[in-house]
Parts: sequence; structure tokens; C-alpha cells
Amino acid sequence: MEDLTPEEIQLFIEAISAHSNYDFSEYSIKSFTRRVQKLLVDYRTDITGLIKRVSENSNFLEKAVINITVNTTEIFRDPKIWEYINTTILPRYKNESRINIWHAGASTGQEIYTMLILLKQHGLFDKARVYASDINSEVLEISKSGKYKYREIDEYINNFKETYKNSGKSYNINDYFKISRNRNTVKTKSFLLDKTQYKVHDLTKITNPFAVKYNIIFCRNVLIYFNHELQNRIIKLFENSLFTGGTLIIGKHEGILGDIAEKFEKQGTIYIKK
Ligand SMILES: C[S@@+](CC[C@H](N)C(=O)[O-])C[C@H]1O[C@@H](n2cnc3c(N)ncnc32)[C@H](O)[C@@H]1O
Repeated sequence: MEDLTPEEIQLFIEAISAHSNYDFSEYSIKSFTRRVQKLLVDYRTDITGLIKRVSENSNFLEKAVINITVNTTEIFRDPKIWEYINTTILPRYKNESRINIWHAGASTGQEIYTMLILLKQHGLFDKARVYASDINSEVLEISKSGKYKYREIDEYINNFKETYKNSGKSYNINDYFKISRNRNTVKTKSFLLDKTQYKVHDLTKITNPFAVKYNIIFCRNVLIYFNHELQNRIIKLFENSLFTGGTLIIGKHEGILGDIAEKFEKQGTIYIKK
């Protein structure tokens, strides 16, 4: 892989922001550099060629941005957190008349469908308004379709089992997904589709895309790609957008630092707005 200097990365970021609304200046430099290196390999070019292409071709720029963002996700990713949501967080919403949920950085939707499954099991599905956003329009289209590759199914089934293993209840993943080995597909069942409102939205712009207040905000494995200043501004946006007592769920390798942390009560990687 080509070694890239911070100055070269800077020139690339400047070329992107000169020709679009995207601003990668506060992404964490290490992982951003790795993604740019991958772009160079995929498009068989060097950094000068890449800068020229994003400057001259807006379709290519869009494609490059989509490739820069990391979209990995899973159904019931990090089961310990889903177990906690299942046993401790969701029962608190039993008497609410409405539950607004925002998945920020939702990627291809596995996190959304995981939550919808739990809402269904808790009898909270009809009370929930579900909103999802991501900077990448392509992943949101996959999310809307709810269609995934069969090759990830072992992971999904393991996560599913892990989540419920101490619950004393037995659920079947086939009640929620139509799994076909022959067709190489995992299709989300139709009662889980169409529940979610989607919007392409860039968190670096620090705006609330749906202009409502939320009871629960998910932003898992997204903040990790940003520097601390940007992380803090986004956490502040979440704090402003949550009802008092609302729940913020971030990734298991992410945390809230600085003054803003005092606005929350921490329960693992789950934060309750005071
Ligand atoms: C690793 S995925 C996380 C998906 C899911 N939340 C999970 O934890 O499984 C990170 C997502 O953040 C999105 N993302 C990256 N930068 C973003 C930004 N500035 N605004 C909104 N979403 C962004 C990416 O497109 C990607 O879909």
C-alpha cells in the first residue's frame, strides 16, 4: 500500500470539500488514511490521480465518499448490549404512549431490524416511531430492502442466541427473516419493513434530521471515526435531541469524555440523560 503523508491526506480532504458538502477534516486521521489507501488500490491510482478525479468528476467523488465510510454491521451486533436493552432498557418504556428512536449512522439496517424485533417482543412496536440516517445513500437503500447475504448468517444466528441465552425465553430467528441458503439470501420479513423513516444525513453538520425529540438514540461504531472535538459536538447534539431520561447507545469501544459526560448517567455503553 502506498504511504501517504498527512499533507497528502489534507490535500485530498480539501479537494473533497471544495467540490461537495462533505467535510472529512475532523475524521480520525489513522482510519481515514487506511480507507484512502484502499481507494488507491481499488482504483489503481496514486494520490495525485485520486485528487484529480474527485475534483473533476462528481459521480466519482460520490463513489469515493461511499467507499471511505466503513459500513460493517451485524444483526444483534455485540449481543451483551442487546441483552441489556432487552432486560433493562425496554421494560422502562412499557407505560410510554410513544417511543421515538433515531438510528444515527444506521448503515445497511441490521441494527434497526434488531431493535424492531425487540420492540415487537416487548409489545412496543406499534408505539414506536423509528428514524434512521446515514451519510451514505447506498447503505440506506439496502436497509430499506432488508436483504442481506446468506454468508453472514452464522454470525447472526450466534448473536441472536447469545442475546436471549439468559432470558429464559426461546425465540426463533426464522420468525423475523426468510433465510435461503440456495438463493444466498437473508430477507427481512415484511412486517419489519416500512416501519422506518430514512434520511441521508451527515452528522458532522450537527443538525437533528427529523426535528423531533427522541426517547432512544443509537449511534454505535460511528463516533470512533471522528476526532474528540467532533465527537463532543455530536454528543451535545444528541443530548439536546433526547428527552430527559432518554437513552443514548454508543458502540462498545466508544465513550463520552469531558463536561458533557456529566449530563448522563453511565450504564456500560448506555447513557441515560439526566
Ligand atoms: C461501522 S457502521 C455502524 C453501523 C451500525 N450503527 C452498527 O454499529 O452496526 C458506520 C456508519 O456510519 C456512517 N457514517 C460515517 N460518517 C458519517 C457521518 N458523517 N454522518 C452520518 N453517518 C456517517 C457510515 O456510512 C456507516 O454506515
